[in-house]
Amino acid sequence: MSLKQVSLTLFSALALTAVLLTACGAPQTPASPTEAPAPTKPPQVTEPPTKQQVEVFSWWTAGGEDEGLEAMVKVFAAKYPNIEFINAAVAGGAGTNARAVLATRLQANNSPDSWQGHAGQELIGTYVKAGQLQPLNDLYEAEGWLQVMPETLIPLISEDGKIYSVPVNIHRANVLWYNPKLLADNGIEVPATIDEWCAAMDKLQAAGVTPLAMGEQWTAMHLFETILLGSLGVDKYNGLWTGTTDWASPEVKQALENFKKALSYTNADAASPAWQDAAQLVVEGDAAFNVMGDWAEGFFRSLGKTPKADYGWAPAPGAVGVFQFLSDSFVLPVNPPHPEAALAWLKVAGSKEGQEAFNPVKGSICARTDCDKSLFGEYLQSAMDDWAKDIVVGSLTHGVVANDSWKTEINNALGIFLADLNVDNFQSALAAACKSSGPCK
Ligand code: GAL
Repeated sequence: MSLKQVSLTLFSALALTAVLLTACGAPQTPASPTEAPAPTKPPQVTEPPTKQQVEVFSWWTAGGEDEGLEAMVKVFAAKYPNIEFINAAVAGGAGTNARAVLATRLQANNSPDSWQGHAGQELIGTYVKAGQLQPLNDLYEAEGWLQVMPETLIPLISEDGKIYSVPVNIHRANVLWYNPKLLADNGIEVPATIDEWCAAMDKLQAAGVTPLAMGEQWTAMHLFETILLGSLGVDKYNGLWTGTTDWASPEVKQALENFKKALSYTNADAASPAWQDAAQLVVEGDAAFNVMGDWAEGFFRSLGKTPKADYGWAPAPGAVGVFQFLSDSFVLPVNPPHPEAALAWLKVAGSKEGQEAFNPVKGSICARTDCDKSLFGEYLQSAMDDWAKDIVVGSLTHGVVANDSWKTEINNALGIFLADLNVDNFQSALAAACKSSGPCK
Protein backbone atom coordinates (compact mmCIF):
# COMPACT_ATOMS: atom_id res chain seq x y z
CA MET A 1 0.00 0.00 0.00
CA SER A 2 1.42 3.39 -0.88
CA LEU A 3 1.80 6.16 1.69
CA LYS A 4 -0.95 8.08 -0.05
CA GLN A 5 -3.27 5.10 0.23
CA VAL A 6 -2.31 4.67 3.90
CA SER A 7 -3.19 8.26 4.67
CA LEU A 8 -6.49 8.08 2.76
CA THR A 9 -7.48 4.86 4.54
CA LEU A 10 -6.63 6.34 7.95
CA PHE A 11 -8.54 9.46 7.08
CA SER A 12 -11.65 7.50 6.04
CA ALA A 13 -11.44 5.36 9.18
CA LEU A 14 -11.33 8.42 11.43
CA ALA A 15 -14.15 10.08 9.54
CA LEU A 16 -16.27 6.93 9.92
CA THR A 17 -15.52 6.81 13.67
CA ALA A 18 -16.63 10.40 13.96
CA VAL A 19 -19.93 9.58 12.21
CA LEU A 20 -20.50 6.55 14.46
CA LEU A 21 -19.76 8.55 17.62
CA THR A 22 -22.20 11.18 16.50
CA ALA A 23 -24.84 8.53 15.85
CA CYS A 24 -24.38 6.50 19.06
CA GLY A 25 -23.10 9.04 21.61
CA ALA A 26 -24.79 11.73 23.70
CA PRO A 27 -27.17 13.86 21.71
CA GLN A 28 -25.43 16.90 20.34
CA THR A 29 -26.75 20.35 19.84
CA PRO A 30 -27.32 20.59 16.13
CA ALA A 31 -25.12 23.15 14.53
CA SER A 32 -26.91 26.17 13.29
CA PRO A 33 -27.22 26.08 9.51
CA THR A 34 -25.13 29.25 9.24
CA GLU A 35 -22.35 27.91 11.42
CA ALA A 36 -19.69 26.14 9.47
CA PRO A 37 -18.81 22.71 10.84
CA ALA A 38 -15.53 22.62 12.76
CA PRO A 39 -12.87 21.57 10.28
CA THR A 40 -11.75 18.00 10.74
CA LYS A 41 -8.01 17.90 10.87
CA PRO A 42 -6.69 15.16 8.62
CA PRO A 43 -4.25 12.87 10.40
CA GLN A 44 -0.65 13.78 9.81
CA VAL A 45 1.15 10.94 8.10
CA THR A 46 4.62 12.26 7.45
CA GLU A 47 6.44 10.57 4.60
CA PRO A 48 9.97 9.56 5.51
CA PRO A 49 12.35 11.68 3.41
CA THR A 50 13.36 9.51 0.45
CA LYS A 51 17.13 9.58 0.12
CA GLN A 52 18.11 10.35 -3.43
CA GLN A 53 20.84 8.20 -4.87
CA VAL A 54 22.59 7.88 -8.17
CA GLU A 55 24.29 4.64 -9.09
CA VAL A 56 27.00 5.17 -11.70
CA PHE A 57 28.60 2.20 -13.42
CA SER A 58 32.13 2.28 -14.86
CA TRP A 59 35.39 0.32 -14.84
CA TRP A 60 37.48 3.03 -13.31
CA THR A 61 39.30 1.40 -10.44
CA ALA A 62 42.99 1.72 -11.39
CA GLY A 63 45.37 4.47 -10.26
CA GLY A 64 44.49 7.66 -12.14
CA GLU A 65 41.07 6.33 -13.21
CA ASP A 66 39.82 6.04 -9.68
CA GLU A 67 41.18 9.43 -8.60
CA GLY A 68 39.76 11.08 -11.70
CA LEU A 69 36.31 9.71 -10.93
CA GLU A 70 36.64 10.80 -7.32
CA ALA A 71 37.50 14.34 -8.42
CA MET A 72 34.36 14.50 -10.55
CA VAL A 73 32.26 13.03 -7.74
CA LYS A 74 33.50 15.86 -5.49
CA VAL A 75 32.10 18.39 -7.96
CA PHE A 76 28.86 16.39 -8.03
CA ALA A 77 28.63 16.26 -4.22
CA ALA A 78 29.11 20.02 -3.93
CA LYS A 79 26.32 20.68 -6.45
CA TYR A 80 23.93 17.98 -5.29
CA PRO A 81 24.53 17.42 -1.57
CA ASN A 82 21.24 15.55 -1.23
CA ILE A 83 22.10 12.86 -3.74
CA GLU A 84 24.26 10.01 -2.56
CA PHE A 85 26.74 8.83 -5.20
CA ILE A 86 26.95 5.06 -5.46
CA ASN A 87 30.11 3.99 -7.22
CA ALA A 88 29.28 0.74 -9.05
CA ALA A 89 32.67 0.39 -10.76
CA VAL A 90 33.77 -3.13 -11.71
CA ALA A 91 37.54 -3.61 -11.99
CA GLY A 92 39.20 -4.70 -15.23
CA GLY A 93 40.83 -2.61 -17.94
CA ALA A 94 38.88 -1.62 -21.07
CA GLY A 95 35.70 -2.76 -19.35
CA THR A 96 36.24 -6.41 -20.18
CA ASN A 97 34.69 -7.55 -16.89
CA ALA A 98 32.46 -4.56 -16.32
CA ARG A 99 30.65 -4.82 -19.61
CA ALA A 100 29.78 -8.47 -18.97
CA VAL A 101 28.39 -7.52 -15.56
CA LEU A 102 26.45 -4.65 -17.10
CA ALA A 103 24.92 -6.94 -19.71
CA THR A 104 23.73 -9.32 -16.99
CA ARG A 105 22.29 -6.44 -14.98
CA LEU A 106 20.45 -5.03 -17.96
CA GLN A 107 19.03 -8.43 -18.76
CA ALA A 108 17.80 -8.77 -15.19
CA ASN A 109 16.14 -5.33 -15.37
CA ASN A 110 18.55 -4.03 -12.78
CA SER A 111 19.96 -1.04 -14.60
CA PRO A 112 22.28 1.43 -12.92
CA ASP A 113 21.28 5.10 -13.24
CA SER A 114 24.04 5.76 -15.75
CA TRP A 115 26.93 3.85 -17.24
CA GLN A 116 30.22 4.44 -19.00
CA GLY A 117 30.15 3.61 -22.68
CA HIS A 118 32.41 4.42 -25.59
CA ALA A 119 31.35 6.91 -28.22
CA GLY A 120 30.98 5.23 -31.61
CA GLN A 121 29.82 1.75 -32.55
CA GLU A 122 29.84 0.39 -28.99
CA LEU A 123 27.18 2.96 -28.13
CA ILE A 124 25.23 3.12 -31.39
CA GLY A 125 25.63 -0.46 -32.60
CA THR A 126 25.03 -2.01 -29.20
CA TYR A 127 23.02 -0.02 -26.62
CA VAL A 128 21.09 2.26 -28.98
CA LYS A 129 20.36 -0.65 -31.31
CA ALA A 130 18.97 -2.61 -28.36
CA GLY A 131 16.71 0.33 -27.43
CA GLN A 132 18.33 0.69 -24.02
CA LEU A 133 18.97 4.44 -24.01
CA GLN A 134 17.04 7.70 -23.91
CA PRO A 135 17.96 10.53 -26.27
CA LEU A 136 19.45 13.59 -24.61
CA ASN A 137 18.77 16.37 -27.12
CA ASP A 138 16.81 18.42 -24.56
CA LEU A 139 19.67 18.23 -22.11
CA TYR A 140 22.15 19.30 -24.81
CA GLU A 141 19.88 22.23 -25.63
CA ALA A 142 19.40 23.27 -22.01
CA GLU A 143 23.11 23.02 -21.16
CA GLY A 144 24.35 24.64 -24.39
CA TRP A 145 26.53 21.60 -25.12
CA LEU A 146 26.21 21.75 -28.88
CA GLN A 147 28.35 24.88 -28.74
CA VAL A 148 31.13 23.28 -26.69
CA MET A 149 31.32 19.62 -27.74
CA PRO A 150 33.49 18.84 -30.78
CA GLU A 151 31.49 18.67 -34.01
CA THR A 152 33.31 15.48 -34.98
CA LEU A 153 32.09 13.71 -31.87
CA ILE A 154 28.35 14.40 -32.17
CA PRO A 155 27.74 12.01 -35.12
CA LEU A 156 29.47 9.23 -33.16
CA ILE A 157 26.95 9.52 -30.35
CA SER A 158 23.88 10.16 -32.50
CA GLU A 159 21.37 8.15 -34.48
CA ASP A 160 18.60 9.70 -36.58
CA GLY A 161 19.31 13.14 -35.13
CA LYS A 162 19.03 11.91 -31.55
CA ILE A 163 22.04 12.33 -29.25
CA TYR A 164 22.54 9.43 -26.88
CA SER A 165 25.39 10.17 -24.48
CA VAL A 166 27.48 12.74 -22.70
CA PRO A 167 31.19 12.47 -23.56
CA VAL A 168 33.39 13.26 -20.61
CA ASN A 169 36.79 12.99 -22.29
CA ILE A 170 38.98 12.23 -25.28
CA HIS A 171 41.65 9.55 -24.89
CA ARG A 172 44.45 8.77 -27.29
CA ALA A 173 44.95 5.04 -27.91
CA ASN A 174 48.08 5.08 -30.11
CA VAL A 175 50.71 6.17 -27.64
CA LEU A 176 54.17 4.60 -27.44
CA TRP A 177 55.39 4.96 -23.86
CA TYR A 178 59.08 4.46 -23.35
CA ASN A 179 61.71 4.48 -20.66
CA PRO A 180 64.03 7.39 -21.56
CA LYS A 181 67.01 6.01 -19.65
CA LEU A 182 66.85 2.55 -21.25
CA LEU A 183 66.71 4.14 -24.69
CA ALA A 184 69.60 6.51 -23.97
CA ASP A 185 71.74 3.79 -22.38
CA ASN A 186 71.31 1.66 -25.50
CA GLY A 187 71.85 4.49 -27.97
CA ILE A 188 68.29 4.33 -29.29
CA GLU A 189 66.32 7.18 -30.83
CA VAL A 190 62.55 7.23 -30.40
CA PRO A 191 61.30 5.24 -33.42
CA ALA A 192 58.87 6.86 -35.86
CA THR A 193 58.27 3.93 -38.22
CA ILE A 194 57.58 0.25 -37.64
CA ASP A 195 60.95 -0.67 -39.21
CA GLU A 196 62.80 1.72 -36.90
CA TRP A 197 60.88 0.32 -33.99
CA CYS A 198 61.77 -3.28 -34.84
CA ALA A 199 65.45 -2.33 -35.28
CA ALA A 200 65.40 -0.65 -31.85
CA MET A 201 63.77 -3.70 -30.28
CA ASP A 202 66.33 -6.05 -31.88
CA LYS A 203 69.06 -3.98 -30.29
CA LEU A 204 67.39 -3.97 -26.89
CA GLN A 205 66.75 -7.68 -27.02
CA ALA A 206 70.42 -8.33 -27.86
CA ALA A 207 71.36 -6.19 -24.84
CA GLY A 208 69.16 -8.34 -22.58
CA VAL A 209 66.44 -5.70 -22.11
CA THR A 210 62.75 -6.63 -22.49
CA PRO A 211 61.82 -4.50 -25.50
CA LEU A 212 58.03 -4.42 -25.24
CA ALA A 213 55.66 -4.77 -22.28
CA MET A 214 52.26 -6.31 -22.92
CA GLY A 215 49.50 -7.82 -20.77
CA GLU A 216 46.16 -9.61 -20.93
CA GLN A 217 44.34 -10.15 -24.22
CA TRP A 218 42.65 -6.76 -24.60
CA THR A 219 46.08 -5.10 -24.41
CA ALA A 220 47.15 -7.36 -27.30
CA MET A 221 44.14 -6.12 -29.27
CA HIS A 222 45.17 -2.58 -28.38
CA LEU A 223 48.68 -3.21 -29.72
CA PHE A 224 47.16 -4.89 -32.79
CA GLU A 225 44.98 -1.90 -33.72
CA THR A 226 47.92 0.50 -33.49
CA ILE A 227 50.00 -1.79 -35.71
CA LEU A 228 47.16 -2.08 -38.24
CA LEU A 229 47.09 1.72 -38.35
CA GLY A 230 50.88 2.11 -38.43
CA SER A 231 51.21 -0.48 -41.20
CA LEU A 232 48.24 0.43 -43.41
CA GLY A 233 48.08 4.21 -43.02
CA VAL A 234 44.95 6.26 -42.39
CA ASP A 235 42.84 5.52 -45.49
CA LYS A 236 43.36 1.78 -45.57
CA TYR A 237 42.92 1.57 -41.78
CA ASN A 238 39.61 3.44 -41.99
CA GLY A 239 38.63 1.22 -44.91
CA LEU A 240 38.86 -1.84 -42.70
CA TRP A 241 35.82 -0.55 -40.80
CA THR A 242 33.84 0.73 -43.77
CA GLY A 243 34.38 -2.29 -46.02
CA THR A 244 36.67 -0.61 -48.58
CA THR A 245 39.87 -2.30 -47.41
CA ASP A 246 40.02 -6.00 -48.14
CA TRP A 247 40.91 -7.94 -44.99
CA ALA A 248 42.27 -10.69 -47.25
CA SER A 249 44.68 -8.31 -49.07
CA PRO A 250 48.50 -8.53 -49.08
CA GLU A 251 48.74 -5.20 -47.18
CA VAL A 252 46.69 -6.58 -44.33
CA LYS A 253 48.84 -9.72 -44.38
CA GLN A 254 51.92 -7.52 -43.99
CA ALA A 255 50.28 -5.73 -41.05
CA LEU A 256 49.60 -9.10 -39.42
CA GLU A 257 53.22 -10.13 -39.96
CA ASN A 258 54.29 -6.87 -38.29
CA PHE A 259 52.03 -7.66 -35.36
CA LYS A 260 53.48 -11.15 -35.09
CA LYS A 261 56.98 -9.68 -35.06
CA ALA A 262 56.04 -7.19 -32.34
CA LEU A 263 54.76 -10.07 -30.20
CA SER A 264 58.21 -11.67 -30.38
CA TYR A 265 59.61 -8.76 -28.34
CA THR A 266 57.17 -8.96 -25.42
CA ASN A 267 57.75 -9.97 -21.79
CA ALA A 268 57.69 -13.72 -21.15
CA ASP A 269 54.43 -13.58 -19.14
CA ALA A 270 52.77 -11.22 -21.65
CA ALA A 271 49.42 -13.02 -21.60
CA SER A 272 48.58 -12.29 -17.99
CA PRO A 273 49.46 -8.87 -16.50
CA ALA A 274 46.78 -6.21 -16.16
CA TRP A 275 47.47 -3.08 -18.22
CA GLN A 276 48.79 -1.25 -15.18
CA ASP A 277 51.34 -3.98 -14.44
CA ALA A 278 52.54 -4.06 -18.05
CA ALA A 279 52.82 -0.25 -18.17
CA GLN A 280 54.61 -0.22 -14.85
CA LEU A 281 57.42 -2.35 -16.29
CA VAL A 282 58.35 0.67 -18.39
CA VAL A 283 58.45 3.25 -15.60
CA GLU A 284 60.38 0.85 -13.36
CA GLY A 285 63.00 0.28 -16.05
CA ASP A 286 62.03 -3.38 -16.61
CA ALA A 287 60.91 -2.91 -20.23
CA ALA A 288 61.66 -0.26 -22.84
CA PHE A 289 58.28 0.23 -24.58
CA ASN A 290 54.58 -0.16 -23.98
CA VAL A 291 51.75 0.73 -26.33
CA MET A 292 48.80 1.89 -24.28
CA GLY A 293 46.18 4.61 -24.17
CA ASP A 294 46.92 7.76 -22.28
CA TRP A 295 45.11 6.57 -19.16
CA ALA A 296 48.60 5.13 -18.55
CA GLU A 297 49.75 8.69 -17.90
CA GLY A 298 47.14 9.08 -15.15
CA PHE A 299 48.46 5.83 -13.72
CA PHE A 300 52.13 6.91 -13.92
CA ARG A 301 51.26 10.10 -12.09
CA SER A 302 49.39 8.16 -9.42
CA LEU A 303 52.65 6.24 -8.89
CA GLY A 304 54.46 9.55 -8.38
CA LYS A 305 56.43 9.23 -11.63
CA THR A 306 57.75 12.27 -13.49
CA PRO A 307 57.09 12.97 -17.18
CA LYS A 308 60.17 12.97 -19.40
CA ALA A 309 62.36 11.57 -16.59
CA ASP A 310 60.51 8.32 -15.80
CA TYR A 311 58.52 8.04 -19.01
CA GLY A 312 58.54 9.52 -22.47
CA TRP A 313 55.85 9.34 -25.16
CA ALA A 314 55.47 9.41 -28.91
CA PRO A 315 52.79 8.41 -31.43
CA ALA A 316 52.85 4.63 -31.89
CA PRO A 317 55.20 3.91 -34.84
CA GLY A 318 53.95 4.39 -38.36
CA ALA A 319 51.26 6.90 -37.46
CA VAL A 320 52.98 10.16 -36.58
CA GLY A 321 50.40 12.92 -37.02
CA VAL A 322 47.50 10.52 -36.51
CA PHE A 323 45.42 10.55 -33.33
CA GLN A 324 43.65 7.22 -32.76
CA PHE A 325 40.95 8.29 -30.39
CA LEU A 326 38.20 7.07 -28.11
CA SER A 327 35.82 8.83 -25.80
CA ASP A 328 34.26 7.76 -22.52
CA SER A 329 30.68 8.89 -22.32
CA PHE A 330 27.78 8.48 -19.91
CA VAL A 331 24.29 7.45 -20.87
CA LEU A 332 20.73 7.73 -19.62
CA PRO A 333 19.06 4.31 -19.65
CA VAL A 334 15.42 3.92 -20.63
CA ASN A 335 14.29 3.21 -17.07
CA PRO A 336 16.84 4.52 -14.60
CA PRO A 337 15.86 3.87 -10.97
CA HIS A 338 16.49 7.56 -10.15
CA PRO A 339 15.78 9.60 -13.29
CA GLU A 340 16.34 13.04 -11.75
CA ALA A 341 19.55 12.04 -10.05
CA ALA A 342 20.74 10.42 -13.29
CA LEU A 343 20.21 13.72 -15.10
CA ALA A 344 22.07 15.54 -12.35
CA TRP A 345 25.04 13.21 -12.87
CA LEU A 346 24.99 13.75 -16.63
CA LYS A 347 24.93 17.52 -16.12
CA VAL A 348 28.12 17.31 -14.07
CA ALA A 349 29.77 14.89 -16.51
CA GLY A 350 29.17 17.34 -19.34
CA SER A 351 30.06 20.48 -17.37
CA LYS A 352 33.28 22.45 -17.65
CA GLU A 353 33.85 22.14 -13.91
CA GLY A 354 33.30 18.37 -13.93
CA GLN A 355 35.57 17.80 -16.92
CA GLU A 356 38.28 20.10 -15.60
CA ALA A 357 38.31 18.19 -12.32
CA PHE A 358 38.25 14.74 -13.92
CA ASN A 359 40.53 14.84 -16.95
CA PRO A 360 43.87 16.17 -15.66
CA VAL A 361 43.87 13.32 -13.12
CA LYS A 362 42.44 10.63 -15.41
CA GLY A 363 45.05 11.19 -18.09
CA SER A 364 42.63 12.40 -20.76
CA ILE A 365 41.72 15.71 -22.30
CA CYS A 366 38.28 17.27 -22.04
CA ALA A 367 35.65 16.38 -24.58
CA ARG A 368 34.57 20.02 -24.21
CA THR A 369 36.54 22.51 -26.22
CA ASP A 370 36.62 25.24 -23.54
CA CYS A 371 38.67 23.66 -20.74
CA ASP A 372 41.56 25.60 -19.22
CA LYS A 373 44.76 24.15 -20.70
CA SER A 374 46.89 25.34 -17.81
CA LEU A 375 45.21 22.80 -15.51
CA PHE A 376 46.83 19.96 -17.46
CA GLY A 377 50.32 18.48 -17.24
CA GLU A 378 52.95 18.40 -19.94
CA TYR A 379 51.83 15.19 -21.64
CA LEU A 380 48.15 16.16 -21.77
CA GLN A 381 48.97 19.62 -23.11
CA SER A 382 50.79 17.93 -25.97
CA ALA A 383 47.79 15.62 -26.49
CA MET A 384 45.55 18.70 -26.74
CA ASP A 385 47.80 20.15 -29.43
CA ASP A 386 47.78 16.86 -31.34
CA TRP A 387 44.00 16.45 -31.05
CA ALA A 388 43.64 19.92 -32.58
CA LYS A 389 45.97 19.34 -35.54
CA ASP A 390 46.28 15.58 -36.20
CA ILE A 391 44.21 13.36 -38.44
CA VAL A 392 41.71 11.60 -36.19
CA VAL A 393 40.81 7.90 -36.53
CA GLY A 394 38.86 5.59 -34.20
CA SER A 395 39.92 2.79 -31.86
CA LEU A 396 38.75 -0.81 -32.21
CA THR A 397 39.46 -2.01 -28.67
CA HIS A 398 37.66 0.96 -27.15
CA GLY A 399 34.44 0.87 -29.06
CA VAL A 400 34.70 3.45 -31.84
CA VAL A 401 34.89 1.50 -35.10
CA ALA A 402 33.19 -1.86 -34.56
CA ASN A 403 30.07 -2.91 -32.70
CA ASP A 404 30.21 -5.55 -29.98
CA SER A 405 29.47 -8.59 -32.13
CA TRP A 406 32.15 -7.78 -34.70
CA LYS A 407 34.66 -6.95 -31.98
CA THR A 408 33.89 -10.24 -30.25
CA GLU A 409 34.61 -12.16 -33.45
CA ILE A 410 37.89 -10.30 -33.91
CA ASN A 411 38.76 -11.01 -30.31
CA ASN A 412 38.08 -14.73 -30.73
CA ALA A 413 40.34 -14.84 -33.79
CA LEU A 414 42.98 -12.92 -31.86
CA GLY A 415 42.85 -15.37 -28.97
CA ILE A 416 43.59 -18.25 -31.34
CA PHE A 417 46.37 -16.29 -33.05
CA LEU A 418 48.08 -15.46 -29.76
CA ALA A 419 48.27 -19.20 -29.13
CA ASP A 420 49.27 -20.50 -32.60
CA LEU A 421 50.78 -17.42 -34.33
CA ASN A 422 49.40 -18.64 -37.66
CA VAL A 423 49.07 -15.51 -39.81
CA ASP A 424 47.10 -17.17 -42.63
CA ASN A 425 44.47 -18.56 -40.32
CA PHE A 426 44.24 -15.25 -38.47
CA GLN A 427 43.75 -13.37 -41.72
CA SER A 428 41.00 -15.75 -42.91
CA ALA A 429 39.22 -15.46 -39.57
CA LEU A 430 39.40 -11.65 -39.69
CA ALA A 431 38.07 -11.60 -43.26
CA ALA A 432 35.23 -13.93 -42.23
CA ALA A 433 34.42 -11.74 -39.21
CA CYS A 434 34.06 -8.69 -41.44
CA LYS A 435 31.65 -10.67 -43.65
CA SER A 436 29.51 -12.01 -40.84
CA SER A 437 29.37 -8.99 -38.51
CA GLY A 438 30.99 -6.08 -40.38
CA PRO A 439 30.31 -4.27 -43.65
CA CYS A 440 32.13 -6.74 -45.97
CA LYS A 441 30.02 -8.46 -48.58
C1 GAL B 1 39.27 2.26 -21.75
C2 GAL B 1 38.56 3.44 -21.16
C3 GAL B 1 39.51 4.29 -20.43
C4 GAL B 1 40.39 3.49 -19.48
C5 GAL B 1 40.88 2.19 -20.11
C6 GAL B 1 41.56 1.24 -19.15
O1 GAL B 1 38.36 1.43 -22.43
O2 GAL B 1 37.97 4.18 -22.18
O3 GAL B 1 38.82 5.30 -19.73
O4 GAL B 1 39.70 3.29 -18.35
O5 GAL B 1 39.86 1.51 -20.73
O6 GAL B 1 40.68 0.71 -18.22
